[in-house]
Amino acid sequence: MTQELFDRSARVTPGGVHSPVRSFKGVGGAPVFFKKAQGATLSDVDGNDYIDFCQSFGPLILGHRDPDVEIEVHNAVGDVWTLGTADPYSLELAEWIVKKIDVVERIRFVNSGTEAVMSALRLARGFTGRTKIVKFDGCYHGHVDSMLVKAGSGLAGGQSASSSAGVSENQAGDTLVLPLGDEVALKALFEREGDHIAAIIVEPLPANFGLLPLTNSFLETLRSLSKAHGALLIFDEVISGFRVALGGMAQVSNITPDLVTYGKVIGGGFPVGAFAGRAEIMDFIAPEGPVYQAGTLSANPISMRAGLVTLKKAAQPGNYELLNQRTDRFANALEGLIAKTGVDIKLVHSGSLLWMCPGAKDMDIHGPEDFPADLQSRFKPFFLSLLEQGIYVAPSGYEVMFLSHAHTDEVLEEALKKFERAFESFRK
Ligand SMILES: Cc1ncc(COP(=O)(O)O)c(C=O)c1O
Repeated sequence: MTQELFDRSARVTPGGVHSPVRSFKGVGGAPVFFKKAQGATLSDVDGNDYIDFCQSFGPLILGHRDPDVEIEVHNAVGDVWTLGTADPYSLELAEWIVKKIDVVERIRFVNSGTEAVMSALRLARGFTGRTKIVKFDGCYHGHVDSMLVKAGSGLAGGQSASSSAGVSENQAGDTLVLPLGDEVALKALFEREGDHIAAIIVEPLPANFGLLPLTNSFLETLRSLSKAHGALLIFDEVISGFRVALGGMAQVSNITPDLVTYGKVIGGGFPVGAFAGRAEIMDFIAPEGPVYQAGTLSANPISMRAGLVTLKKAAQPGNYELLNQRTDRFANALEGLIAKTGVDIKLVHSGSLLWMCPGAKDMDIHGPEDFPADLQSRFKPFFLSLLEQGIYVAPSGYEVMFLSHAHTDEVLEEALKKFERAFESFRK
């Protein structure tokens, strides 16, 4: 049935999918069509179940259809779908976040991570009166024109500097791209162009070109240099926010960015993004300030209520420790299986994120330039071995895996058996 649906889909939708990272282009064949999910389990249209380590690319920190979120969503649908007015639901979520997250004094809700980044960049330019934005090679910040330069996620592994057709030199020209983690290049750039730089944007835990954790000292350098030159520091926490800790990487690194962008977990599986930060900067946004930003469905009540229940549950005492420690144990067990089966796979993990890179067991990978050239061709048989065993991960070697609270010890024990069989068949 999957093949039939894909054939139909390819006739009405480019590539048969609504986001390129859902495509099986890199691994071959038709993408599996899924129709239901619960907890850690995905069910496809042919009646097969899979343990899901994609989790919709990260929003589902509680797993699919968490019962408390589900009840709230049912109640929310009974009250109102969209208002386009001031409302108490977005107020409650905003107040909760401002109270809990030190770096957030003001927050504005939008509909996706891309929108959050787009708005934060405009705000940074409006606030500083400068034009240039510094980004890092391999970091992905959504499909904003100016950020589609040396980007990760679905663009990872591409050859050209501007990662997408349709992005003009003008749009990309104000984006200055630096190698990830390169303090020397960063200092030299600020020496040269410091007066023109509106902001540095970084994924403080880069997770769109594999998983490439940065040192705290690099993040501290970003903070001190941007401050010294009057530029803003934007942490793009669309993945890491409310995921690695309640306060994301800003909390983990103990560094205060000027602005932060959120997405994914903040909506608990419903479409939400947000940009937030210091009041003095955020008050530059309309209607308070001169930087325009708006949205018909922004702060949608259903998303707001799903988000608040999700965050409150994720933030219950001990819950982040539990999830991160469980991921540590799972990663250690996987390392054991990698050693036992002798497969050539590198494993990196941080918080509740994991990345497996076939063909890179003994390689040091700090940035896109360190990747095995044949990663995608090595990833393909690995991915198919996992799928065969009933494990679903994103269909690209550059994407990370996510654990959720629904990945209980029992689920992970079952998953390890499947991984062992998949490793065996991959090695052959
Ligand atoms: C770090 C980061 N920023 C921005 C985005 C864009 O978010 P969205 O896909 O919700 O537009 C993503 C998406 O994966 C992301 O990982």
